[in-house]
Amino acid sequence: MTVRILQFGTSGQLARELLGQAKDFDVEITALSRAEADFADPQAVVRRLGQGEYDLVVLAAAYTAVDLAESERDLAFTVNAETPGAIAKALNADGPALVQVSTDYVFAGDKGAPYVESDATAPLNVYGASKLEGERRILAASPRALILRTSWVVSSHGKNFVKTMLRAAGESRALKVVDDQFGRPTAARDLARFILSQAGRLAAAKAGDPVFGVHHFANAGEVTWKGFADGIFAAALGDKAPAVACGSAADWPAPAKRPVRGTLDTSQLERTFGVTLRPWREPVAEIVAELQSEARSAA
Ligand SMILES: NC(=O)c1ccc[n+]([C@@H]2O[C@H](COP(=O)([O-])OP(=O)(O)OC[C@H]3O[C@@H](n4cnc5c(N)ncnc54)[C@H](OP(=O)(O)O)[C@@H]3O)[C@@H](O)[C@H]2O)c1
Repeated sequence: MTVRILQFGTSGQLARELLGQAKDFDVEITALSRAEADFADPQAVVRRLGQGEYDLVVLAAAYTAVDLAESERDLAFTVNAETPGAIAKALNADGPALVQVSTDYVFAGDKGAPYVESDATAPLNVYGASKLEGERRILAASPRALILRTSWVVSSHGKNFVKTMLRAAGESRALKVVDDQFGRPTAARDLARFILSQAGRLAAAKAGDPVFGVHHFANAGEVTWKGFADGIFAAALGDKAPAVACGSAADWPAPAKRPVRGTLDTSQLERTFGVTLRPWREPVAEIVAELQSEARSAA
């Protein structure tokens, strides 16, 4: 059975990967851009829900400007909490299932070990607090919602760490990268393919099925930003990779505080869905190769 998906968001990293990878799965996606469904207006978004028959609703629209959120609290909460909550409320229990993507920033990062789903949350910044409130509202309204917390999302498009590092290497200046924050990089493509591969199962699952609720999704391997940068340069430049000096997060003061170690433990998701999440170096090598091939064709 072809799964009919209503996707909110068309231009972000995850949104683009969902649309790009859909051809490999038995799904039919209707995707709405911000112009068609602005999450700053919950009622307008809910009205769009009634305009078609769907098996699954996927939220790939979010307020993701972590530092700006400190000064745009109301907007961050409307987009990340109020509207997702209103969508969950509007879906009938026997209607489409819901997939929302959340973040490692719901955690304080001081556990001293990777976080499991049942660990206490304590966001350090407005963005994390808004995403956590979105989780709460969705879970309170819908027994058929999957919330995937993820971290350090990268792809060959949009703004992300891989692209920033490759640009910095091209400028041939001395490189210094934060070496005292830890996490797990995640390819938007791997996350998109996971969601698409589970679409049929989610659409058919009843309330109470363990596929619903909160699960952690990230590529395998914990690393610091500096370790991540080293991996990106190794993939892009091999033995010509530039030396990267160790920096401290304190060297780059930012409006929003970040967790020191928000690393996600993904074993619950791997057990529940019967999947193994591959090491981040594999998709990062693919992203680097894609970017290099695009640069060659543009030259
Ligand atoms: N990026 C990360 O490192 C990271 C880490 C952890 C969790 N996450 C979560 O993962 C999910 C996907 O992230 P991503 O990296 O794909 O984000 P992204 O590239 O920043 O894309 C965000 C998308 O949301 C849309 N959007 C923003 N404000 C909107 C509004 N008011 N109404 C409708 N659409 C709006 C954007 O549209 P425009 O293009 O029109 O602005 C864009 O399509 C998000 O839920 C995010 O919170 C991301």
